[in-house]
Amino acid sequence: MAQNTSLEKPILHVEILQRRRSVMAKDVLMHEVDTILKNMGKTYVDSHIKEFPNSGLQEHILHIKICEVQDNADVKEVELCNVMPRYYVYQLECDGPGIEELNEGEEEIPAATYWILPAAEFDNYWENLVFDTNIKEELLNYIRTTLLFSDRKICESIISWNKVVLLHGPPGTGKTTLSKALAQKLSIRLEPRYKYAQLVEINSHSLFSKWFSESGKLVQKMFTKITEMVEDPQSLVLVLIDEVESLTCSRASCSNGTEPSDAVRVVNAVLTQLDQLKKYPNCLILTTSNITGTIDLAFVDRADIKQYLGLPSKGAIYQIYHSCIIELERTGIIVDSERLFTLKELTLIKMAESKVTQPSLLLMKIAEQSQGLSGRTLRKIPFLAHALYIHAPRVSLYDFLFAMEKAVQKQLKDREKISQPSPQLLPYSNLIPTPHPQFRTHPPPMPLSPNNHRPPLPSRTVHPFPIPTPISFYSPPPPIPNLTPPPAISPN
Ligand SMILES: Nc1ncnc2c1ncn2[C@@H]1O[C@H](COP(=O)(O)OP(=O)(O)OP(=O)(O)O)[C@@H](O)[C@H]1O
Ligand SMILES: [Mg+2]
Repeated sequence: MAQNTSLEKPILHVEILQRRRSVMAKDVLMHEVDTILKNMGKTYVDSHIKEFPNSGLQEHILHIKICEVQDNADVKEVELCNVMPRYYVYQLECDGPGIEELNEGEEEIPAATYWILPAAEFDNYWENLVFDTNIKEELLNYIRTTLLFSDRKICESIISWNKVVLLHGPPGTGKTTLSKALAQKLSIRLEPRYKYAQLVEINSHSLFSKWFSESGKLVQKMFTKITEMVEDPQSLVLVLIDEVESLTCSRASCSNGTEPSDAVRVVNAVLTQLDQLKKYPNCLILTTSNITGTIDLAFVDRADIKQYLGLPSKGAIYQIYHSCIIELERTGIIVDSERLFTLKELTLIKMAESKVTQPSLLLMKIAEQSQGLSGRTLRKIPFLAHALYIHAPRVSLYDFLFAMEKAVQKQLKDREKISQPSPQLLPYSNLIPTPHPQFRTHPPPMPLSPNNHRPPLPSRTVHPFPIPTPISFYSPPPPIPNLTPPPAISPN
């Protein structure tokens, strides 16, 4: 992915999804697709070509995705003679995820989930994410610079970068989905460089050992496995640490003052391992968080990109709803549909009111009412609209839009009710179980205040451990004398 100079034509990225059963050589496919595109003259960014009449390609290609014009994020209509197409041919892996296990004593713990990329599961994630800024293009540019600097062997003690990305923001704003989508995109775009690509999602919670002081060692073991993968230069390894605050909680908030708590050892281990991975050009660490205030500053400092993902604007909401309605039309649930304009078309005609724009303007009004809802909730609204107000296998577009409007209003009302505190709710500290005395060492699970009341925990978000296990008060239990297994239950 070398940068084009201003004298060259801009690069148009084109992804070709080859059928799994096809064995046609990639360069032959690229050549065929090039001929098709040259004959088209003009095309649109973010469009799919699914039909290839008279070429015999139908048997080999599922679709051609016309992606972005590099460094020209705003270009949507492309004269093919003015760009230089760059082709990527890929086939999807359908095997689903695998589990990477680590042994901890006698036990195997599921330390990570991994996918061979590009995975069928993540296809279309990238296209279906809508953001108000060019976040996706910026992430791709970051990777281009990373590759360029690695290729030119830039001295890392002069200019340094850590290959760590942190996506943060409120719940349901697409952080995890964007991380997986980026991993998938890189596996497609970097295919000429790497023979294999895999995404390893670290299961942070399982790395917290039930044995005091062992969690840091588990983290180290996990990263040793990752390093083994990364040592193969033909393999691209994308590591996802979702909800990274659980592995990198601020050390200042989790030390008990005397000896380093288990959580501190975990943070130290993560930081050391990240520093060791940074020398490998074929490894990228993707992390997400919705409570960044609790993350250790040394980790935040290591992230090259700290990208905030916020709640979608009215325009982004319109696009998300638009894609939902197109899907319901494709599957025959919305029938006899009037034309729904894209956001770009509506903007071009300055939202002019007429009979043909009526349904689109109604959808825009619903988008406006939906401001404040997360991407996750927005993608649920069409489902709720149908479940609560339609009850029929087929529906007209107008009826569906009215149902959506009601579903949005219900969602907003329900949220309001939930955000009011309920007097019956127990304080959070009461939810932490008291460990069995046999597993307890001093000090007791929570210090008592002078008036003998257990002080409440500061808040859930600053509690450094996977809830609800106060690990640092545990030590390995002594062997339990005369422990016999429970009698087998007789089948009779
Ligand atoms: N900007 C967006 N555009 C389109 N869909 C979105 C957007 N944001 C979220 N979604 C959808 O919402 C769902 C949840 O997204 P995701 O799990 O990635 O959110 P998250 O930010 O990781 O949330 P959390 O902080 O709760 O883990 C996904 O189906 C995703 O496609
Ligand atoms: Mg998430």
